[in-house]
Amino acid sequence: MKKYLKAVFAFAMTTTMLFAMAGCGSSPEANNVEEQNTEVTQGEGTEGETTGDVFVMATNAEFPPYEFYEGQDIVGIDVEIARAVAESMGKELKVEDMAFDSIIPAILSGKADIGVAGMTVTEDRKASVDFTDTYVKASQVIIIKADNTEITGAADVEGKAIGVQLGTTGDLYASDVTDTVERYNKGFEAVQALAQGKIDAVIIDDQVAKALAADNADVKVLDEPFTEEEYAIAVKKGNTELVEQINAALAELKESGKLQEIVDKYITAE
Ligand code: ARG
Repeated sequence: MKKYLKAVFAFAMTTTMLFAMAGCGSSPEANNVEEQNTEVTQGEGTEGETTGDVFVMATNAEFPPYEFYEGQDIVGIDVEIARAVAESMGKELKVEDMAFDSIIPAILSGKADIGVAGMTVTEDRKASVDFTDTYVKASQVIIIKADNTEITGAADVEGKAIGVQLGTTGDLYASDVTDTVERYNKGFEAVQALAQGKIDAVIIDDQVAKALAADNADVKVLDEPFTEEEYAIAVKKGNTELVEQINAALAELKESGKLQEIVDKYITAE
């Protein structure tokens, strides 16, 4: 256990360092990232500052069941929560898809009003954005080849080739336990690489791991979670009024049971 406390601490330090470089927009060594900063705007949106009654959500729609493509549409838990929040404010939600590590810069530049992307609240992110109340509890888990008998828990991935989605908490955790971190733009690509035997494991959020593994018989998810995290909505630093408005909407969604309804629609209880 001690070892993990140490790991968590080192993890926090790594995060601090990464965010010290936040101006660069992306982390170093992004070897596997092909379409960094690719941006797919959904709807007939226009570029630039947000105006009027449109409420812009920045996300990375490679994260089922929270945000993913269903045909041309971006759907998922986060999208529905954000839409309900926007509605409660009398606004229309517009979803902008971008690389995960472009979300915070989009909020900072005013291109987006909110970042909703299964984003884990971390002390280091709090240095650049403000977070609302949390709306989901999550954890990071390990995905391995279905026939792998060697890796049975977190301790076994030390020094292994680990695949992650670039700029996520999984990325930071992996970086702490091995020198061989393969960074992908999409979690799905990491799982593909794993199935092809290019890497030994993938570290990613629990529900996403389940969703990705469900589509790939060559891999399985280990039960043991090694970080507990919580997701919240990110807004521009200092925008207390918006945080309060969103918190009120979230509280209402929790109270009415609507939040649970949205989660249940996408996640079937075991
Ligand atoms: N929870 C992790 C983090 O905050 C991963 C989030 C990735 N989200 C996404 N939409 N791709 O770093």
